[in-house]
Amino acid sequence: MGFPALWESLLPLGRDNGTGGYQRFSWTPAGAACRSWFRDVAAERGLRAGTDRNGNLWAWWDPPAAGAVPEPGAALSAQDGAPAWSPGPGAIVTGSHLDSVPDGGAFDGPLGVVSAFAAIDALRERGHSPRRPVAVAAFTEEEGARFGVACLGSRLLAGKADPAKARALTDRDGVTLADAMTAAGHDPDTMGPDETLLAGIAAYVELHIEQGRALGDLGAEVGLASGIWPHGRWRLAFTGRADHAGTTRLADRHDPMLPCAAAILAARDAAAGHEGLATVGKLIPEPGGVNGISSRVTAWLDARAPEESRLNALVGQVLAAARAAASAHGVDLDTSQESFTPAVEFHVGLRDRLAGVLGAGGAATPVLGTGAGHDAGVLAARVPAAMLFVRNPSGVSHSPAEHADQADCLAGVAALAAVLEDLACR
Ligand code: GLV
Ligand code: MN
Ligand code: MN
Repeated sequence: MGFPALWESLLPLGRDNGTGGYQRFSWTPAGAACRSWFRDVAAERGLRAGTDRNGNLWAWWDPPAAGAVPEPGAALSAQDGAPAWSPGPGAIVTGSHLDSVPDGGAFDGPLGVVSAFAAIDALRERGHSPRRPVAVAAFTEEEGARFGVACLGSRLLAGKADPAKARALTDRDGVTLADAMTAAGHDPDTMGPDETLLAGIAAYVELHIEQGRALGDLGAEVGLASGIWPHGRWRLAFTGRADHAGTTRLADRHDPMLPCAAAILAARDAAAGHEGLATVGKLIPEPGGVNGISSRVTAWLDARAPEESRLNALVGQVLAAARAAASAHGVDLDTSQESFTPAVEFHVGLRDRLAGVLGAGGAATPVLGTGAGHDAGVLAARVPAAMLFVRNPSGVSHSPAEHADQADCLAGVAALAAVLEDLACR
């Protein structure tokens, strides 16, 4: 099956037909539908599929003479009730994620997973078989949309998140990750770094829609990633005093919305001052009555900058402004860092090798930096990692308007197939 049919088969899952956006949150019915889709696609291809101890999905295309390799369909880890099995050494992993931000676009994540299966199809149609294991991975909770920590599945795998803290993370209804995983039939007690799995990976190559307009400006269908800005998420909880909107004199109020508003404006100024980006995209006022002063307002700051020093200065400025405004309004402020990803410089040797494959006989492939986070950025700390970007004409992402033309998606599949052929089939 080629890319278009595979893409169409995933499109309806988790889509909000009102907005056209996606609500594919981890460990929900929509997330389960995506997971079944992944398993079905793997099974149709005779790829061995399984779930690792952190809930990430894997589908393995094994070399024909792999000796002790289990039968297609055999489990990858103890999570599936079978003995753990190490695929390596030297596996080439590709893929991305299937979860979305609230009302997300169709491409951010799924494009990498669908393209991975389509690239394997293309290689098989051309008669190739791998000389080393090839895996398609779909990492769980990449967006952190339900439990707050971005790239949680790859962080846990790579030993970059504490499993006990992860189990205790809660969604907006107070459901813990441990309970959500258990309800979905996955044992949360097995979460944690998987050194055996990591040791078997020679390289991770993630294909992703571009989340900017650089490739459009350069007239290129596909690009390569150089690195990722350092970025993180901070939670600011302003606690004031609930009261009546129509009777409480201004001087008597402890309204947490006011310092929160000051912090949001300070974030914009700090971002401009430090040549970074800062966003408050999620805000929860409680109890949320139109005619009441809030008792508490929680805001989440997403901040990114070209270097860690500028990011620290940016966030420090926002938190200082938030503290000063909270104090001026008689409001308490509690802040915490929910996730942090240091600057990532992707493996130069791997990138050069990909550039050689993609540029053979043609124009050089553009190399771009990005402010967007990716599982490849987390895994880069443990294994050689690289990324391919596919042109996004408007640059819009994290929105139902996110789009890539089908011809560019097909160019992405061709590029990924060429890369996998080079890395795994020769
Ligand atoms: C992921 O898309 C992120 O950059 O937050
Ligand atoms: Mn995203
Ligand atoms: Mn993504």
